[in-house]
Amino acid sequence: MYLGIDLGTSGLKALLIDSNQRVVGLATAPLSVNHPHSGWSEQYPAIWVQATSDALDGLMESHPKDLAAVKGIGLSGQMHGATLLDRSAKVLRPCMLWNDTRSHAEAAKMDLDPAFRDITGNIVFPGFTAPKIKWLQRNEPNIFQQIDKVLLPKDYLRFWLTGEYVSDMSDASGTSWLDVKNRRWSDGLLAKSDLSSAHMPSLVEGTEISGYVQAPLAERWGMSKDVAVAGGAGDNAASAIGLGIVNAGAGFVSLGTSGVVFAATDTYLPSPDTAVHTFCHALPNTWHQMGVILAATDALNWWARICKTGAAELTAEIDTVITGPESTVFLPYLSGERTPHNDADVRGSFHNLSMADSRASITKSILEGVAFTLRDALDALRSTGTKLQSVLAVGGGTQSTAWLDILANILDIPIEIPKGGDIGAAFGAARLGLIASENISFKDCCQKPDIARVFEPHPDTAHAYAEKHRVFKALYQKSL
Ligand code: XUL
Repeated sequence: MYLGIDLGTSGLKALLIDSNQRVVGLATAPLSVNHPHSGWSEQYPAIWVQATSDALDGLMESHPKDLAAVKGIGLSGQMHGATLLDRSAKVLRPCMLWNDTRSHAEAAKMDLDPAFRDITGNIVFPGFTAPKIKWLQRNEPNIFQQIDKVLLPKDYLRFWLTGEYVSDMSDASGTSWLDVKNRRWSDGLLAKSDLSSAHMPSLVEGTEISGYVQAPLAERWGMSKDVAVAGGAGDNAASAIGLGIVNAGAGFVSLGTSGVVFAATDTYLPSPDTAVHTFCHALPNTWHQMGVILAATDALNWWARICKTGAAELTAEIDTVITGPESTVFLPYLSGERTPHNDADVRGSFHNLSMADSRASITKSILEGVAFTLRDALDALRSTGTKLQSVLAVGGGTQSTAWLDILANILDIPIEIPKGGDIGAAFGAARLGLIASENISFKDCCQKPDIARVFEPHPDTAHAYAEKHRVFKALYQKSL
């Protein structure tokens, strides 16, 4: 048995697979995010540990024998967060998450230093880890001085599980301190943050062993004492592993809290001017590109909170056969935007509301707005020469067939839905646990899943959405 643990932003998943990669058990635990000020987004690391314990307790109840038979664990997680520990490994403050844009001024200043783009291949985005540390140095100098280790969210879980300070290449790519081409920390970039490699975890590939589960935890869940924990991956690279997206030409779109258009690449292909992210993949000697938008299901959940209902109730109110766009336009920039704008200050807006609008039509305009931002991200990837003829789709938003229909028409390519539900990143993490503990070939292990359904664009509908996309883009320009 192999266990994948995916630390998402709004929930944690623990997934058990057997040696034939069949899903045996799944347990989940919810997580909430604090937004004390506009642009701030934080979580206490203690809730990650609690959620993991709860999920594993759940598996212990439902699948005690399978959990006891686990040989390898893979970790996946929300990227970029700054989890700060002091010398006694005490957490110094809540983790500033990937969609926390408070450090936009620091990020813009760092990005003017050409060394960052040269060495990391990426813009220094406000959500990345390094600018958060600069913000802290200025605003919470007391905390900054006590920093002994800076860990990414899933690597804090690893530390709790194994006692080891380790990260993997894909997640480390989103810190602004990694030499992404050469897959090692950059001492020069760390020095620009008044840190050194001593503050960083050591690095392994996603497929390598990073440590073993500590005895008291192994005993708690009935496991043997030599359960290996793989390097694992940032959640998007982990999803790609789960979907078999390991070679150039293959890609996926994620409708999670964030939205992502992801493409695997055979070589390191940086293109920072396009705001496309270029990161190490979770497999040795492979890389990937991503266009990232900050609010996908986050935008729908925001609307659901306002309507005092659930996201599923709202999407159920929309016709499942989409024949064309709403007249209302929604710009989903509730937390600012990364690809293609790199604009932390922009905020969301509705345009062209009328007396004819209803809750359902506004919901549909929100689904459309998110899909338009994903189209912008796809266009950014294409501008670097990347070609995607179709994409798989993952994330909680894929439960809405209306949203998938809208997305297929707006991206204007077929969207494939894998069989087996929304388990992408946890499944990818479990695969990495399998590869690391059995030392098997990752090419054999990372096959594409069976497809349950394909959403095809319809020419007339796609054309109508292309018209609305022009209006959408012009409205962003106008808001500048
Ligand atoms: C990727 C990113 C998000 C988070 C969310 O760069 O910021 O997709 O990983 O989980």
